[in-house]
Amino acid sequence: MVHLGFIGIGHMGSMLIRKFIETGVAAPGDIIASNRTREKAELLARNLGIKLGDNNREVAAQSDVIFLCVKPLDVMGVLRELRYELTPDKLLISVAGDFNLEKIASISRARATRVIPSIGSESLKGVSLVVYGGNTTDSDRALILRLFRAIGHPIEVEEKDLDILIVLTSSGPAYISAVMRELVLAATRKGVDADLAERLVKETLKGTSELLAKESFDDLIIRVATKGGSTEEGVKAIRKHAPAMFDELFVATKAKHDLVRKKVDAQE
Ligand SMILES: NC(=O)c1ccc[n+]([C@@H]2O[C@H](COP(=O)([O-])OP(=O)(O)OC[C@H]3O[C@@H](n4cnc5c(N)ncnc54)[C@H](OP(=O)(O)O)[C@@H]3O)[C@@H](O)[C@H]2O)c1
Repeated sequence: MVHLGFIGIGHMGSMLIRKFIETGVAAPGDIIASNRTREKAELLARNLGIKLGDNNREVAAQSDVIFLCVKPLDVMGVLRELRYELTPDKLLISVAGDFNLEKIASISRARATRVIPSIGSESLKGVSLVVYGGNTTDSDRALILRLFRAIGHPIEVEEKDLDILIVLTSSGPAYISAVMRELVLAATRKGVDADLAERLVKETLKGTSELLAKESFDDLIIRVATKGGSTEEGVKAIRKHAPAMFDELFVATKAKHDLVRKKVDAQE
């Protein structure tokens, strides 16, 4: 039996706990958690039947695997607080962006891995980006895969690519929603009822995602945007304007990652 500890039970920490329990990959009695605002942890413990640590150190001491689910600028403080508990017999899984494995290893002696999950795991379909630390063992990897396969699709990637891949996965639901929202707003500017437009786009999104499970974007576009038709004109408009928008998205998100990393470095 593996004891799982969670430090930070905000959006991501609480989702992971809930989904690991719901899928049966972890039992409530094997999970212990702590959170800066204790009332939040108390509520989750009551609702899910997990154990509550008196503090982060107790959680780390009682766990074999410690999930670090705090924001990047809070990671340094927690790692320093846990310097005596994070020993080589523990596996640390950090879900934080902008705090790399080298930096973790400079403070903690635990075996470490980064996993960047997605809120899509609410529906057991989230992609989790996994970067194994050099000191993780085969059984660590098997455990990580077992946990994250239960709630979606874990995919091993290189740490240097994370900023870009996060755009596609963990931030993806926000971007897809933002783009679809713009489509709805454009329809409402043409006089269509906003609720109707949103409902139609959401249903279309569901159907499209099922089709895309079996075919490529390009194949689907060719099937819908028949030559000489109106959809072909619409696709041309997207192809004209979207590259600049998405290039700007990557520039803006990289600038934010660089800023956070600068702040993290300044904490040393
Ligand atoms: N949300 C996503 O979709 C997503 C996706 C991938 C990765 N992540 C990563 O997941 C991490 C958490 O994100 P989130 O969206 O869950 O943020 P969040 O909702 O703000 O949760 C962070 C939690 O950490 C707690 N916390 C902060 N400092 C702490 C400390 N010293 N000890 C114990 N608990 C502490 C906070 O407690 P309080 O209750 O006091 O605020 C809060 O509950 C981030 O690093 C983010 O990069 C998030």
